[in-house]
Order: sequence, then structure tokens, then C-alpha cells
Amino acid sequence: MVSLKTSLCGIELDNPLIPASGTFGFGYEFAEIYDINILGSFSFKGTTKDPRFGNPTPRIAECERGLINSVGLQNPGVDKVIENELPKLKKCFFKPVMANVSGFSVEEYVHTCKMLDSEPQIGWFEVNVSCPNVHGGGMSFGTSPEAAAEVVRAVKAVTTKPVIVKLSPNVTDIVAIAKACEAAGADGISLINTLLGMKIDLKSKKPVIANKMGGFSGPAIKPVAIRMVYQVYEAVNIPIVGGGGISTAEDVIEMMLAGACAVEVGAANLVDPYACKNIIEDLPRVMEKYGIKNLSDIIGGAH
Ligand code: FUM
Repeated sequence: MVSLKTSLCGIELDNPLIPASGTFGFGYEFAEIYDINILGSFSFKGTTKDPRFGNPTPRIAECERGLINSVGLQNPGVDKVIENELPKLKKCFFKPVMANVSGFSVEEYVHTCKMLDSEPQIGWFEVNVSCPNVHGGGMSFGTSPEAAAEVVRAVKAVTTKPVIVKLSPNVTDIVAIAKACEAAGADGISLINTLLGMKIDLKSKKPVIANKMGGFSGPAIKPVAIRMVYQVYEAVNIPIVGGGGISTAEDVIEMMLAGACAVEVGAANLVDPYACKNIIEDLPRVMEKYGIKNLSDIIGGAH
């Protein structure tokens, strides 16, 4: 009998699987096709202070071994999330959930976290300083150690829940940013978000995505994610949620060996809505194949 249990910032998870924000809605949509309580947790749709319609379409472009998205943080805004989405989630998911929060100013991050802080089902904040698809917010905070730290510090001041900061891979020194966030009080690091990418249509000779560029995710980015998780694990003493191109049980094990204590699955959910369920069911077989009894024992094992 193998154990898939792990923990994240003091909260025990039945397994490390966490569908990534933006690929799993508010959970209840997926609860229509399987019991989502088999998941470790999930990170809900990136939420902002005000409602957002998102970017013009087309927003998605399929690529080799991945896809580009430029959704633009479409969401109903924090008030409607609390009023409409979380009550529906509560009826079908009985575990702590991760609240993914974005903003266009430090004050907006603070406002949204403050509003969500009293929601009992929220176990962690995933403060997203890495969305590449909006101007004047998102990734602009996550590409500077000082700006990322400022967001962390401000959010920490208004919540008692663990604050996990989601970092961008579109930087030269991920370690400097992770360390600045840790010093500012972050309880965990989540990485990586998408890589800024582009696809050009040969017939129209124009970018496929209306916003021209978008975030590239999928199996092609996994080596970048593994490398960054490995580097950050060596540099910080707070837990890491690793993600980027994860689509199999083998990928989960590789990510944990790099240093992740929990693993996000993103693009794979868009290709196959059963992706996380399949991975969870396959993990015991793959663990046995590699002689792993307890998943938590392998965290950082590659170092
Ligand atoms: O465009 C989007 O909504 C993507 C968000 C993200 O990558 O964080």
C-alpha cells in the first residue's frame, strides 16, 4: 500500500494534485463529470477586484506540445465570486480550496484578499503576480523582486491564511524573486505560470491570438518548470507548488523530486477534463514501479 499524502503550509492533502487556476473554473463545472473530492485541492479561477470581460478572441492557439492562451483574467469580480461561485463550490467540494487572486495595483490585491479572507473554505491564497495577458498588472509585479515582495507584504498584512505567490518564468533570475517573496513573508511559492509566446498564421500572415501574444503552457514547458522548481528549492525554506506541463503520474514524481510538495496541472485539463483523475489513479502504479512508498518522502529527492 502506497501513500499519496503530502502537506502544503500545514494543511494535509490526500494527494499532491491541484488543478491550476484558469483551467478548472470554480470546480463545480468539473463536479458534473466526476467527484472532485479525489483531488488534493484546486486553485480557482483568477479573481480580481472588479469584473473582467477578458481579452478579445481568438484567445487560444494550439501549438506543438502545448497551447497559447490570452484569456485576460476573465472573471465576475470578487463580490460575485463570493455571492455566486463559492456557494456552488461548497456544495460539491469539501476540502480547503486555493484562492487565486490577481490585481492591477497593490491595493486591488489587498482588497480582493481581504474580501475573501473570511470565506471558511479558502485554505490558501495563491497570489498571482505572473499573468502575462494583461497590461499594468499581473506579470509586471512578478518580474521585479521589489514589486513582487511589495504585493506579498501588503497581502500578508490583511490575512491569516497562508500566502503562496505564483511566479512568472519570464525572468532571468527566478531565485532572486522567490527569495524576495520569502523575505516579505510569503508562506509558499507556486511556479511556473506560462511562458510568453506567439503563433503566426501562414494564410493571414498575422498573429493567431487577437492580443498577438499569450501564455504558452503544456508539456513543452515542463523542462523549464522542473529547472526553476529545482533552483528555487535550493534557495528558499518555504514549500513549493510546482507546475508547468504536468500531464502524467511520472511528471508529478519528477516535479516532486525537483522540490515541489504539491503539483499543479493546467493545460492538460483543457485537453482532457479527466486528466487529474487519471493521474491520481495512475500514481500508485508508477510509485510502485519506482519503489516509492510515501510520495512525501521524495520531495526534493533530486538534490
Ligand atoms: O489570461 C489569463 O487569464 C491568464 C492568467 C494567468 O496566466 O495567470
